[in-house]
Amino acid sequence: MVSLDRPANIARARRYGKSAGLLLALLVCAAAFGSAGFVMTGRSDASPTRAEFILARAARKAFIPIRARGISQPQLSAGSLVEGRHVYVQSCSICHGADGRGNTGIGRAMYPPVPDLAADASQQWKDRELFWIIRNGIRLTGMPAWRESLNEEQTWTVVAYLRKLADQNRERARRANASGHTDGDLVRIATETIDQEDCLGCHMLNGEGASVGPDLTTEWMRGRSDDWLIEHFKNPPHMTPGSIMPRFEHLSDEQLRALVAFLQQPR
Ligand code: HEC
Ligand code: HEC
Repeated sequence: MVSLDRPANIARARRYGKSAGLLLALLVCAAAFGSAGFVMTGRSDASPTRAEFILARAARKAFIPIRARGISQPQLSAGSLVEGRHVYVQSCSICHGADGRGNTGIGRAMYPPVPDLAADASQQWKDRELFWIIRNGIRLTGMPAWRESLNEEQTWTVVAYLRKLADQNRERARRANASGHTDGDLVRIATETIDQEDCLGCHMLNGEGASVGPDLTTEWMRGRSDDWLIEHFKNPPHMTPGSIMPRFEHLSDEQLRALVAFLQQPR
């Protein structure tokens, strides 16, 4: 969060006249809510009131773009999404959930609660603003600063990963919609099919199974289209010359589509 406590920062902010005016207005409001001391010290262990939460959000919208202005984004290498996923799984998913939607016990129990990182409200931040947020954390909330534990490159890879998560979640909603099933139905049909066909006799999934074929946990990151996957199920060597994966032509359309939806979903 913005440092509302340091005169130097206030002076810097004042150069951006409009925002400084907003800052002062916010401080006045904060004082009116009897919370100035809290905002000033910016302690994130005390629990903020609803009013403080709203004020904090408004301040964030005004100040993060200013703070992030000078940050320039490096070119990322091809493997960066894999690295981003690694960072995310290690450091973020405990609160934000594997799919970014914040549906975790910890995430829901926090106040303010963990937001859906794939939703527009979070995706509207520019890359450099997300970078700034991750490095500095968000005061008055449970969002920690990662400056000490992630280097700059790792932080950029996780930003790229958050974009990818959002794309995949949108696609997932579209697939569920198009199939006339709920997300949950698709997952159930897919896991039943995976059991029935003993896919884990050859593939790993979430740390279980064998390694004859590639790990299916990260299949969604390989950039295959849905059609590609369906064709591959029906006739693997046609898509991947020399493949020893059996043909799964006997599966119903519904099963194939559920498998694709399941494999394309972030985990
Ligand atoms: C201890 C729990 C926790 C962990 C771990 C955590 N976050 Fe957060 N995060 C939060 C909470 C709570 C918020 C909500 C703050 C708010 O908006 O009020 C948040 C907010 C955010 C936001 C701002 C979203 C928005 O809409 O403005 C981003 C981006 C974010 N987190 C990314 C990450 C990334 C990336 C990691 C891993 C490096 C991470 N978080 C780890 C709890 C956590
Ligand atoms: C006898 C072992 C075997 C079985 C059983 C098997 N696979 Fe495979 N699978 C492979 C091998 C080997 C490859 C790598 C060659 C290829 O891509 O065709 C592969 C590739 C894949 C790929 C493509 C990865 C890519 O994007 O290139 C997917 C997806 C996949 N399998 C899913 C499944 C699913 C789902 C099942 C169960 C319905 C299954 N496999 C059953 C051996 C198997």
